[in-house]
Amino acid sequence: MTPVLILGLESSCDDTGVAVYDAAARKILSNKTRSQDAVHAPFGGVVPELASRAHLENFGALYRDALAAANAAPADLGAIAVTRGPGLRGCLAVGVSYARGLGLSLGVPVRGINHIHAHALSPFAESELPPLPHLAAVVSGGHTHFFAVNGPAEFKLLAKTRDDAMGEAFDKVAKLLGLPWPGGPAVDKTAEGGDEERFPFSLPRFNDDPGGVALSFSGLKTAALHRFRESGLARLGEGEAPAQGHRDLCASFQRAAVALILDRAEKLLDRHAFRSLGFSGGAAQNSRLRRLATALGDARALPVCFPGRGLSADNGAMIAACLARAGEAAFPSLAVDPDLKL
Ligand code: KG4
Ligand code: ZN
Repeated sequence: MTPVLILGLESSCDDTGVAVYDAAARKILSNKTRSQDAVHAPFGGVVPELASRAHLENFGALYRDALAAANAAPADLGAIAVTRGPGLRGCLAVGVSYARGLGLSLGVPVRGINHIHAHALSPFAESELPPLPHLAAVVSGGHTHFFAVNGPAEFKLLAKTRDDAMGEAFDKVAKLLGLPWPGGPAVDKTAEGGDEERFPFSLPRFNDDPGGVALSFSGLKTAALHRFRESGLARLGEGEAPAQGHRDLCASFQRAAVALILDRAEKLLDRHAFRSLGFSGGAAQNSRLRRLATALGDARALPVCFPGRGLSADNGAMIAACLARAGEAAFPSLAVDPDLKL
């Protein structure tokens, strides 16, 4: 079979990604990402204007790198997949404009991909879909959603956060403690050796949510702020090593955040006849989540899937693989949509 190479472009937030994906072999040939952590670190959060500018600067070099690493020429590309939403408007516009220009010059079709759809399918970029129906949890810096998946383009939203996303809560707690940006990996690491029972956190409940599956992280974040103030701990200076108290607070917060995600996953598993469970997005790299979700799957004899290396955080390979898996018909529009739903 003639290989159909798809170029995947991602620029919805603060990472620029370009990848070459072989749809016939279902194989990622290259997946180049340039993180903007250094650009945004001084601000403790993503600055949209700086992010769009950095994407514009990064795309050219990443495109050349991705082609070289895949051992491919521009003329080998058969299609371009680009994130059209959700995300930051200016960042999405940079990606879609770059894709349109490239598509015109190469004479290949350009498809606009839903970023959340791509995250949800990312564990299966190089493999079969898992047994269906599948329960997909997308946990990132911008999203915390649970979907019932009945096919590569058949998604039903079951629950989502009412306020902060999981990764965002980690980022805010890190900022509070003076840990470096991005906060998720920093809190995860600082939690090592911490006493997870030292600081109390309670999981959110809502009167208007009798099923108990609604997600909310802002309460945990606020509780972290109160625990921090009560503890008398100092905010860490740049490069300063965390004290035991910082470790304890990170471990206690992380325990609660992961318990919240897994509590909702368990309730949804109890309620529907799912045959597999998956976690994707940047926060799916969390070490405690991986460990406890795997144990949950073992206990329920259910396959639990995570994205492969380089596929959890934002990347171009998941965008290309999503087009290959779900098919062109699933992506009829190329219009930028910062609030695109799945
Ligand atoms: O998927 P992603 O790269 O971008 C979005 O689409 O948002 O996710 C980035 C988010 C950040 O909030 C980051 O702090 C979080 O993922 N993250 C983590 C971990 N590694 C990254 N959160 C918790 N634990 C981690 N180990
Ligand atoms: Zn993402």
